[in-house]
Order: sequence, then C-alpha cells, then structure tokens
Amino acid sequence: MMAGLLLRLLPLVLLSPEPGAAVWPQPQSLSLDAEGGCRLSASRFRFGYANSSAVGPGCAVLDEAFQRYWELLFHSRRRDAGNGHSEDPLCTELFVSVAEQGCDGYPSMDSSENYKLTVSAEQMLLTADTVWGSLRGLETFSQLAWRGDDGTFYLNKTTVVDFPRFRHRGLLLDTSRHYLPLKAILETLDVMAYNKLNVFHWHIVDDPSFPYESMVFPDLSWKGAYNPVTHVYTASDVKTVIEHARLRGIRVISEFDTPGHTHSWGAGLPGLLTPCYAGLKPSGVYGPVNPILNTTYQVMAKLFEEVSAVFPDFYIHLGGDEVDFTCWKSNPEIQTFMQKMGFGQDFTKLESFYIQKLLDIVSSYNKGYVVWQEVFDNAVKVRPDTIVHVWKLSAGAYPKEMAQVTKAGYRVLLSAPWYLNYISYGQDWIAAYRVEPLAFEGSPEQKALVIGGEACMWGEYVDATNLSPRLWPRAGAVAERLWSNQTVRSLADAYMRLADFRCMLLTRGIRAEPLFTGHCDYEFNAL
Ligand SMILES: *[C@@H]1O[C@H](CO)[C@@H](O)[C@H](O)[C@H]1NC(C)=O
Ligand SMILES: *[C@@H]1O[C@H](CO)[C@@H](O)[C@H](O)[C@H]1NC(C)=O
Ligand SMILES: *[C@@H]1O[C@H](CO)[C@@H](O)[C@H](O)[C@H]1NC(C)=O
Ligand SMILES: *[C@@H]1O[C@H](CO)[C@@H](O)[C@H](O)[C@H]1NC(C)=O
Repeated sequence: MMAGLLLRLLPLVLLSPEPGAAVWPQPQSLSLDAEGGCRLSASRFRFGYANSSAVGPGCAVLDEAFQRYWELLFHSRRRDAGNGHSEDPLCTELFVSVAEQGCDGYPSMDSSENYKLTVSAEQMLLTADTVWGSLRGLETFSQLAWRGDDGTFYLNKTTVVDFPRFRHRGLLLDTSRHYLPLKAILETLDVMAYNKLNVFHWHIVDDPSFPYESMVFPDLSWKGAYNPVTHVYTASDVKTVIEHARLRGIRVISEFDTPGHTHSWGAGLPGLLTPCYAGLKPSGVYGPVNPILNTTYQVMAKLFEEVSAVFPDFYIHLGGDEVDFTCWKSNPEIQTFMQKMGFGQDFTKLESFYIQKLLDIVSSYNKGYVVWQEVFDNAVKVRPDTIVHVWKLSAGAYPKEMAQVTKAGYRVLLSAPWYLNYISYGQDWIAAYRVEPLAFEGSPEQKALVIGGEACMWGEYVDATNLSPRLWPRAGAVAERLWSNQTVRSLADAYMRLADFRCMLLTRGIRAEPLFTGHCDYEFNAL
C-alpha cells in the first residue's frame, strides 16, 4: 500500500532521464542538441587553460581540480570504456577561462560562482568570473558526460549558463555528539562540491565533547574531548579541512556555541560555568557560561582571538541557542547581579548582556557573526550586519520568523525545515525539496535579505558509520533548492535526476542511500 501511494505521487519513478540531460542541481539554463556531440577518450582527453584566462598553470585550485575531475570522469567508472562509433568526433580538450585572478585566496560570501559552459564537437569552453565559478562548471561538465551501452563516454552538444540562486548554501556537521574522523569530514566536503554546496558549518564543540585542540587553552580538549589524543582536531587537522574545502570553493564557518551548550568546556576551564544551587548550597551541577564574571570575558577574548586567526572566513557562528535559565535562577550571586543591573527576573536580559559583550569581542577581531534565532527572539542588541539563523522546528513557525527577522532588517539563513538528522519511512527528501525559502509575508527588500540556508546533520545518532547514507542524496534536495531557479519544482523530474545523481555518487565511492525501488548500472562496491 505504501509503495502504491508513492507511485501515484511519482508516476514516472521507473523512467530514466534522457542521456546527457541530468545535472544535479539543475542549472539555471541548459540547452541541448541531439546532434553535434562528441565522444571522450581517456587517452586523449585533457583539461587546459584558455589563452584568455587570467589564471594559468600553477593555480592550485584549478590544477588540482583538473586532476580530480579527470579521475572522476575516467577512473571512477568502469575502465573498459569502448571506443564507440568511429564516426563520432572526439572532444580532446576543455579550455577553462577565468576572468579574475586569485588562486590563493578563500571563497567568500561575495564570490561570484557564475559560469558558462559550451560543449560541442567544434568547441569546449568553460568561462567563469572566478576560480570558484569554474569549479562549479567543472562539476557540471563531469555530470554531462554519459556512458553509452558500448562503454564509450559521450557528450551532447550543450550550452549551460549557470549561477546560484542563493549565495550561502551550507551543511552543518556536529563533531561533538560523536567525533567524526577527519576522513569522514573530507569526504563530506567532496560530496558537498558535487552538490555545489559552498559553506561547511562546523559545529565543532558542544555539551558532550570538546574536540577542538586550542593553543591558548589546551585543557579544553585535554579534559573535554572524549579522548584527548584520538578524538581531537589538531591545528594541522583543522588546516587540512580548511584547505580541502578551499580547493573545492567551500567556506568553513566554525561554531563555538555559548553561553549554553558548553558543558564540555567546564573541566578544562574551572570557573567558566555557572554553579547551580539546590537551595542554599551549590548542587555540584554546572549550567551555562557564567556571565557575571570578568574572567569569563577574558577567556572568551583569548579563545576567539585564536579562533578568528585559525578560521580565515569572515564569519564565525556564535550559537546562542537554547540557554536554560534554571541554573542562573538558582544562583544567589547571579540573582544579586540581576538586581544590581535592574534586570528583575528577566533572564533574557542577562543573556543579552553576555551576548552583547561577546559580539563586541568578536567584532574587535574584524569578524562578522552568525547567531541562532533566539538571540534575535530575545531582543539582544546586535550589529545591523548580523546574520540570524532560523532553526526552530515547531510546525509551520519558520515563515513567520523569517518575516520578523527580515522586517527588522537582518540577513537570514534558513535551516528549520532541513534538519536531516530526522528520518522517516518513505521518501523524506521530498519535504526538504518542497520548501520555498521565500514563502513568507514580506516586501521584496525583505526577501533580498534571505542569503540562503543550511542542511543540518546533528550528531546524537550519527557517526562515521551512517553519516554518508543519511546525508546523501537527501542533502541534495536542499542543494538544488538553494542553487536552482525557484520554478524548478517538478517532483517527477527531480526524482529522475536525483536517482541518477545518486547512482553517480556510487561510482564515486559514496555510500548514498537509495530514494526508492530501483537499481543503478553500477552498484556500490561492484566496480
Ligand atoms: C544526446 O545525444 C544522443 C546521441 O548521441 C541522443 O540519443 C540523445 O537523445 C541526446 N540527448 C538529448 C537530451 O538530446
Ligand atoms: C593559444 O595561443 C597559442 C600561442 O599563441 C596558439 O598557438 C593557440 O592556438 C592558442 N590556443 C587557443 C585555444 O586559442
Ligand atoms: C570587572 O570589570 C569592571 C569593568 O572593568 C570593574 O568595574 C569591576 O570592578 C570588575 N569586577 C571584578 C569583580 O573584578
Ligand atoms: C527563473 O525561471 C523563470 C521561468 O522560466 C524566469 O522567468 C526567470 O527569469 C528565472 N530566473 C532567473 C534568475 O533566471
């Protein structure tokens, strides 16, 4: 019965997309000719820089991408590629032309990711404003190649003009609830690039563990990690992640969530957390960061000075969600401070007091910040360029929140409908796909403040064993919603392309779970 229901919903589930036409996420414009294509041969094909390009050999971002995509095209699939019909012309070189210099920098929120790709027997050219845009074009190129029954790789005559709808297309990984080995993070970055996602939001520490190895406060991970030797991210690990991401045009935004979600900080920094009271005596339990001590702000200043230097992105995520006030309420010193400050019993005011001081600290290091929605909900005074991250799951509530945040003039990121750690029987990618981030009441100016969104993969029930299948291809639904034109909404078309894309992920060695009944030409581990 369940299957019948799904079949009615998606009447075309058993069809395959036409060869040469399946790209995920769907480009803004893609035109195809049945005639005028060519074949690719592993021994003859190469990527090269066009004469007009402002970047050339020695540009690590592109040199390495050329190598990666050559491997993905020819080595990740079956090696016994045939030669096809000899009457089909061979395409031997894709020329890449980048207008702006800049191979050594980092992608930013303002980086152009536009590209244009023309493929035909006469000409193969990829043009882009920036190296980051050319990376998006190379991914599209790799998806356009398809393998005929004879084993030959073909390209149809195709023109793609493409750019993202939203500039911030993120994925959150949580490395505190479970430690994710470096390899799992790097593989996730690879698949993010296949999906044209461009922000890795690294929720690196939280209540259960503190795996970030700090230079200024080494005790934080020494006492707060699950294991201070094996379950930590060293400075070199963090550099590896940032560089792996950079080479794929992905920004890394770290999150050091405070004042709540800080249980693991306590052992390494005694005095940082608030002692909770049972009656007149400390109960031995600790609550959020203690906001009334000067030492707290000295610690934060030192830690965020380091974090600002280690993570090159302009933005830091400062968290600020789910602060539990019961411990603050129980503590007599905090009560005294509340009276002195005239806060009464309004603990959101105390939270605001803390967050404002923290924001001043982070601003002084020339960084911008992202905060979870409570910071806005609790009316904390923030800088006008703050980004508010909408996450609260209460059914149907997020459009209202989007309207309120943008009405107040803040930029906003959407995650509420994209908590992919939640799973359910059936095709739950559909709900994520159907989301329309701009479907809230507001002016065009308000809509323009929506800079994108993030798929979230919280780690309570996720570690390296199930990360990939839970993420992929489900996070692809979010990736297409954030990249493609608003009008790209057909479930039947999306199903075909996503199922096809998922099969391609298998050829690239990714354990992406199936959408529904069916098969791939090459099953996982059968290559
Ligand atoms: C791509 O070209 C092949 C022939 O090489 C053709 O059969 C196919 O229909 C073309 N795809 C599209 C979408 O036109
Ligand atoms: C690039 O310039 C070289 C030398 O001027 C020339 O031989 C070559 O044909 C040019 N290539 C393209 C693709 O225009
Ligand atoms: C904390 O700092 C403020 C401002 O610098 C100062 O007035 C206050 O006396 C300090 N409090 C303590 C307990 O050191
Ligand atoms: C999105 O698609 C619609 C309908 O095809 C088109 O009118 C609109 O211009 C497209 N938007 C962009 C940004 O290309």
